[in-house]
Amino acid sequence: MALNVTQKIIKDHLVSGEMIPGGEIALRIDQTLTQDATGTMAYLQFEAIGLPRVRTELSVSYVDHNTLQMGFRNPDDHAYLRTVAAKYGITFSPAGTGICHQLHLENFAKPGKTLVGSDSHTPTAGGVGSMAMGAGGLSVALAMAGEPYVIAMPKVVKIHLTGKLPGWATGKDVILHLLGKLTVKGGVGKVMEYAGPGVATLSVPERAVITNMGAELGATTSIFPSDEVTKAFFTAMGRPEDYAPLTADPDAAYDEVVEIDLSALEPLAAAPHMPDRMVRIADLDGMKVDQVCIGSCTNSSYADLKAVAQILAGKRIDPTTDLLISPGSKQVLKMLAAEGLIDPLLDAGARLLECSCGPCIGMGGSPTSAGVSARTFNRNFEGRSGTQDGQVYLVSPQTAAMAALRGAFTDPATWGEAPQKAEFPAEVPSIRHLFLTPPADGADVAIQRGPNIAPLPPFGALPATIEAPVALKVGDDITTDHILPAGAQITALRSNIPAISEYIFSRVDADFVSRIKKLGKGVILGGENYGQGSSREHAALGPRYLGVAAVVAKSLARIHRANLVNFGILPLLLVDKADYDRIPAGADIRLETAAIAPGQPCPMTVAGVGEVMVVNDLTAKELDIIKAGGLLNQARKAQA
Ligand code: F3S
Repeated sequence: MALNVTQKIIKDHLVSGEMIPGGEIALRIDQTLTQDATGTMAYLQFEAIGLPRVRTELSVSYVDHNTLQMGFRNPDDHAYLRTVAAKYGITFSPAGTGICHQLHLENFAKPGKTLVGSDSHTPTAGGVGSMAMGAGGLSVALAMAGEPYVIAMPKVVKIHLTGKLPGWATGKDVILHLLGKLTVKGGVGKVMEYAGPGVATLSVPERAVITNMGAELGATTSIFPSDEVTKAFFTAMGRPEDYAPLTADPDAAYDEVVEIDLSALEPLAAAPHMPDRMVRIADLDGMKVDQVCIGSCTNSSYADLKAVAQILAGKRIDPTTDLLISPGSKQVLKMLAAEGLIDPLLDAGARLLECSCGPCIGMGGSPTSAGVSARTFNRNFEGRSGTQDGQVYLVSPQTAAMAALRGAFTDPATWGEAPQKAEFPAEVPSIRHLFLTPPADGADVAIQRGPNIAPLPPFGALPATIEAPVALKVGDDITTDHILPAGAQITALRSNIPAISEYIFSRVDADFVSRIKKLGKGVILGGENYGQGSSREHAALGPRYLGVAAVVAKSLARIHRANLVNFGILPLLLVDKADYDRIPAGADIRLETAAIAPGQPCPMTVAGVGEVMVVNDLTAKELDIIKAGGLLNQARKAQA
């Protein structure tokens, strides 16, 4: 049977399931990556599984988010990440080496491999034909333990490229065009697979920009074939042996087809505050730009910054505009330096930042109040820049450089000749010696745990009978922010479950934590859509640590429900929603868990009220996970 690239990789890695869109499939994972903000929890979870070494072909731990190390918490996290990597066989990339996705593309990604990373822009590696997916920390921990990664078999969308990018149009404009066309929901449950004669006209860095920002479509991942252009990239990166050809069979079938004529594209922007609010730069002509940020895992490659240097060479940026540049890696920085391309940036008035996420994650570089910021990044959500009313436009590096020069967006028709597309030089400097390769045997490595690093507490199996009071009764639309607020002070505690648990429901009911600690256990009674919002694992981990055994609600948000299952909290629904009003806060609940069967109603006794029927929407597999006390316990048992 003729297969497309996605199907070929899935077929090669299929552990169970059938390749029918929507059905559950389990995939063998070759590589994992983490960054520091999500990595600490992933490694604490891996430690809790109890294996001596990772079982992947390659696992890499990058430090790129919180590199400023203000206070002891971030450096403690970094020291933990470095030592845990050495112990368990993980390659470590220290702070300042570069941004995880840029580094992974340059040094480790390989065609035909599966990669799971605890960062949503992991699909960047799809630029060289990896099937690279973003996931939660627990999924990465399980992948490192050799467990298959379970997803719904995606539909495969063929993005058929014809023509060639003209003038000032770039890879960024391809993905901005696609986002405008398909919206931020257009890729859900799908893989975007690029094909057609236009593919050969795009360099690997351009392809990686497109797959990186495919995350904004909500896609499972995005992927390019591996061809002669890919081969030249691997040769330039000094690892020709990692190249392997990988293309779709000529008559491969796709679930959908989208046509893009590259020749018809022009410079575009995503307007505030959504990556799919596509506008033509020409239509922004005259709009003042207060700040320009160039970098991030989307657009910080050598080719990107060389184009910027060429545009700025011999000129001075507009004095009312601030220009910040963060190279994607030290390799990029060294290549620019070797070619004398740093001087044009500095002499034009740019501020050169560390090779890290920087302003993208709010590590400095916030725009002025209501200021317009042109950024080469991938997200422009309200407030993400650190300035609540900042107006962020997502653009290509070329558009950003022109905006910095002129202090405003201007019509590309007035920009003159576009810079030549950068080819890699014959000699590309390697920075591979900066990665810390783990010793062959990590048994003697001591893990450095500062006060911010607390081991994951052990969680017991589900008891045969839950006897616990309603420790908290909440209304409709409780978000994960209600359950565990965000903010620098709290997120710095993500590697410390006992400490972060002190903030559970702190903005809903200030006495909740002390109350449930006194009770030792409890049930949460929720309204409609309990747990909506982010995928924050700690919003399930914290309550679990405090003794929450079950959440009984009118309805539950999908991702939070999955996290409850993963961490061993029973998610239950009221059969008759009117019962919500009959159950008071503090009422004692009794529930025989042995009587719970997948999808079946069962009685719950409420003291002073009587019997209330609850139901679940769990699969048999999910019920087993909860009975084991969570996925980690189950994985630990499986390893034993
Ligand atoms: Fe870093 Fe921003 Fe990418 S935080 S990993 S540069 S999306």
